[in-house]
Amino acid sequence: MLARPRRNRKSQAIRDLVQETHVTTNDLIFPLFLLETPKGKIEVSSMPGINRLGLELMLMEIEECMNLGIKGFDIFPVVDEKHKDRMATNATVPDFFYLKALREIKKRFPEACIMTDVAMDPYSSDGHDGIVDENGRILNDETLEVLADMALAQAETGIDIIGPSDMMDGRVGFIREALDNNGFEEVSIMSYTAKYASAFYGPFRDALDSAPKSGNKKTYQMDPANQSEAIIEADLDIHEGADFLMVKPALSYLDVIKLIKDSYSLPLAAYNVSGEYAMIAAAAEKGWLDKTAVMQETLLSMKRAGADIILTYFAREFALNARG
Ligand code: PBG
Repeated sequence: MLARPRRNRKSQAIRDLVQETHVTTNDLIFPLFLLETPKGKIEVSSMPGINRLGLELMLMEIEECMNLGIKGFDIFPVVDEKHKDRMATNATVPDFFYLKALREIKKRFPEACIMTDVAMDPYSSDGHDGIVDENGRILNDETLEVLADMALAQAETGIDIIGPSDMMDGRVGFIREALDNNGFEEVSIMSYTAKYASAFYGPFRDALDSAPKSGNKKTYQMDPANQSEAIIEADLDIHEGADFLMVKPALSYLDVIKLIKDSYSLPLAAYNVSGEYAMIAAAAEKGWLDKTAVMQETLLSMKRAGADIILTYFAREFALNARG
């Protein structure tokens, strides 16, 4: 026998030499849920270990994570039902707690990379990412105006990356133009390029209390059965000026990550979503899985498939373990 692949596995030192894929804290963006009460802290029951935090505690959390080597944070607001309306008005009110908190976070941590979410659902009384008409249809072009206003209000706080997660047609170009026309040429766009209509977003909608009040998101988010459609979306995002592409969810869509990575040169992010976190956390709580090992293996699988960046609720835990 001439070839014995096992020789390259015979010791940890050799395994380290031949390791092809690496995950480091440089690759990670940590999604955080912001509460209105500055000292507030409420665990997300479907995401054990993940808390919604008020600004004071979030500043501490970001500081700790930065000390562990995490530099990217994606911040989502938990909006009280009484502050929601059909047009997501509070998304653009400069004094609303989310925008105020972003300003404070950037002031305290200018070197952190702060990403924000553009979509109407956290602020919408309908729980949809776009404007809903009287027949339950989601209005695309009218929504673009709202999204651009949201993006401008967020850019004004000094954040680094806008993340349009709404899946309306034409939104990346529309937002890019609005940003440029208002002097925000340096604000980046990480487009949710291939965002699927997935059941894995359940725990996130618990965290934000943002589930659609009627219908579902299938007229704007992609059909999980489709792969070529991701190419159509990626082509558009690139033409419209996106700086990063994204595939979401990650674990059940590794083939899409691979396809986009092989077809385009822009940096690619994978969103390891709430339901993917919840599955592992729940099985670990039951003692059925080794949480750390499964976390590391799944993050590795996303990088191996081609993701350059991973948005993950495991970020802090990964960083703690990476330290040893
Ligand atoms: C909102 C948004 C969602 C997620 C990120 N931004 C939920 C949705 O589209 O319903 C999901 C993130 C996760 O599940 O971790 N547009």
